[in-house]
Amino acid sequence: MSEGPGALDRETRWSALGTKGGTIWLTGLSGSGKSTIALGLASELLRRGVHAYRLDGDELRRGLCRDLGFSAEDRNENIRRAGEVARILADSGSIVVASFISPYEAGRRDCRRVHESSGITFLEVFVDTPIEVCERRDPKGLYSKARAGEIRGFTGVDDPYERPKDPDLVIHPEEQTVDQSVALCLELLAERALIASLPG
Ligand code: ADX
Repeated sequence: MSEGPGALDRETRWSALGTKGGTIWLTGLSGSGKSTIALGLASELLRRGVHAYRLDGDELRRGLCRDLGFSAEDRNENIRRAGEVARILADSGSIVVASFISPYEAGRRDCRRVHESSGITFLEVFVDTPIEVCERRDPKGLYSKARAGEIRGFTGVDDPYERPKDPDLVIHPEEQTVDQSVALCLELLAERALIASLPG
């Protein structure tokens, strides 16, 4: 694996800080529960003294990505920027908990490549909530607007969501509590040695 010019520095920084960085990337439909799980996971990591940082689609779109819309080209650019920011934060020693629809396989693959080519772990978690459930919840009222034709190109309605083919973890929020979903993410992080595997 090729390592970036900062590789040695990174080890020095991480060991000086007693930290280890990496990205856990939640992908799924709007309303699937990504942000709720991300919030629960980041809170639990912080409670354990792990330096965790959330990166969320809605938030990035208010700032760094506010020039972008929802065309395929803009979504690709949105995810490219998010992936680069995640890599930098992970390199600084954070566990980045990213939640983006990230509907296209190629964009998610590029994010993984950006991380792995600089020796940083990238874990893809598919939050697999059926669209009927997302639509029934419709927390932002966007599905009903999309069905009414007031929003065009809405993911799952008239824009595609490409299901991950080989994710590191699949979560089914309609069958699990948020705490159970968070626990699965913690297990994954421990398995990949990003956090200690001690319970609680
Ligand atoms: S992504 O497709 O580029 O990954 P991102 O996660 O940043 O999307 O933002 C998704 C959020 O934008 C949704 O949760 C929703 O609140 C809002 N949104 C507004 N328009 C759309 C749309 N056409 N498709 C999907 N989400 C949209």
